[in-house]
Amino acid sequence: MSRVNPMEALDYMPHPLIIVTAGDPDKPGRRGGMTAAWACRASWDPPLVAVAIAPERFTLELIREKGEFVINVVGPSLRDAAFGVFGSVSGRQVDKFEKSGAKMVKAKSVTAPALADAVVSIECKLEKIVEAGDHMLVVGRVVDAYKMREEEPLVFHLWRARELK
Ligand SMILES: Cc1cc2nc3c(=O)[nH]c(=O)nc-3n(C[C@H](O)[C@H](O)[C@H](O)COP(=O)(O)O)c2cc1C
Repeated sequence: MSRVNPMEALDYMPHPLIIVTAGDPDKPGRRGGMTAAWACRASWDPPLVAVAIAPERFTLELIREKGEFVINVVGPSLRDAAFGVFGSVSGRQVDKFEKSGAKMVKAKSVTAPALADAVVSIECKLEKIVEAGDHMLVVGRVVDAYKMREEEPLVFHLWRARELK
């Protein structure tokens, strides 16, 4: 047994890899999304999820504006888009759907855009935003969900996306 830095220890917890999309699918300047790994289930009944989002993210602005978002679970098909565009540039400067080539589709029960190549898309209505240190905990109520692609999700662990084996 050896003592480790607590923040490094947290990296050993496997995280999901998702792209949170939000905004108006028909307005290129007011739609976007971001890659996130700090996300989890929060309640069974009602069905709630939580995503920790830094206050400066454009995606957070869009979530506040519309009160809705979609969690797109990332598999191998979305890996490049998740790292090369959704997780590295700001939606204030570029339309990430155009830049990444990721196919956008309209969600069914919320107005936010979804990604056609997600493993599943989980449609959420904003329940509340809780300040949590240097991130905002965005709590969403799951109102609908769709299996989009027959792929296994990637897991984000020790700063790499890994395939489930
Ligand atoms: C693998 C990965 C995981 C990330 N996880 C988070 C996260 O959980 N919360 C967060 O605020 N940013 C996270 N980011 C950073 C955002 O995705 C990134 O800053 C993005 O460009 C924000 O875009 P936006 O300003 O258009 O919303 C992550 C990035 C990567 C590559």
